[in-house]
Amino acid sequence: MLALYKIKKLKKHFGPVKALDEVSLEIFQGETLGIVGESGSGKSTLGKTLLRLHEPNSGEILYRDQNLLNLDLSEWRKKAQIIFQDPYSSLNPRMSVKEIIEEPFKIHKETIPSSKIKELLELVGLCPTFMHRYPHEFSGGQRQRIGIARALALNPEFIVCDEPISALDVSIQAQIINLLKKLQKELGLTYLFISHDLSLVKYLSNRVAVMYLGNILELASSEDLYKNPKHPYTQALLSAIPIPDPKKERARKKILLKGDISHIPSQGCVFANRCPFAMEKCHKTKPELLQLTPTQTVACHLYATPS
Ligand SMILES: Nc1ncnc2c1ncn2[C@@H]1O[C@H](COP(=O)(O)OP(=O)(O)O)[C@@H](O)[C@H]1O
Ligand code: SF4
Ligand SMILES: [Mg+2]
Repeated sequence: MLALYKIKKLKKHFGPVKALDEVSLEIFQGETLGIVGESGSGKSTLGKTLLRLHEPNSGEILYRDQNLLNLDLSEWRKKAQIIFQDPYSSLNPRMSVKEIIEEPFKIHKETIPSSKIKELLELVGLCPTFMHRYPHEFSGGQRQRIGIARALALNPEFIVCDEPISALDVSIQAQIINLLKKLQKELGLTYLFISHDLSLVKYLSNRVAVMYLGNILELASSEDLYKNPKHPYTQALLSAIPIPDPKKERARKKILLKGDISHIPSQGCVFANRCPFAMEKCHKTKPELLQLTPTQTVACHLYATPS
């Protein structure tokens, strides 16, 4: 499998806040890599740093084996795009749909193929006659489709989907998810799909990374992660999802976490103050990501080989 991105020890700090604390991962061409974690865990910062909307403090980002931190940004920017969470604030209310979709071409000083606006609107399931209307005339789902059309305008290969349905009405969420799936298949797109909703991420992703306070705690194929979660935090997140069968729901063991994400340990495992299995070592030494199987890595001392 070809890695579109190779990220090594990426750091992004906002003052004392370690939004990304040495994150390493690969993103393979054509896959959906899901990123899950509570609010504040660094998911959006990861997405934005990969697009170089944030400059990292240190670390390496390779895109198709080229160092992204040295690449000609204006040319590369066409290849990687973002779909935002809130379709209400991400579209300029004073621009028509046509102007919104034309904007990326103007920014990159490219001519707009004459049938392109119509094609893009059809691709995202909107009527081409809508092109002269303004954002306030549309529903949330339709606005998200406009945002998707704009993201697709310059034929990208990679798209960060940052909680793209969490601001939408539940009744239309599935339509947008299905649209994203269809577009991925038709256009061969690679997605970084950010969400705090584990069930959604499971449904969409080939692999999933679980983030907590700027760190990846577990990274595995969707199947492994949901059938056989290894990290205590992943186990806790999964045990919080209700099972539809009430009998099974009552019978199963739930892992309740102490405290909340706001307390940040200064050393050791970032999860130690909430972990039911924390040992002395956990408060002193930070666990490295360890490859358990070809499809599952975990950062936790429970799995370290005794030294
Ligand atoms: N532009 C910024 N300036 C200062 N702090 C930020 C900025 N962006 C994010 N942060 C902080 O970095 C941490 C991670 O934020 P974020 O990446 O938005 O998390 P998530 O998307 O998982 O909710 C949070 O503590 C947040 O307050
Ligand atoms: S390293 Fe220790 S504190 Fe951290 S998750 Fe594993 S057992 Fe819990
Ligand atoms: Mg976010």
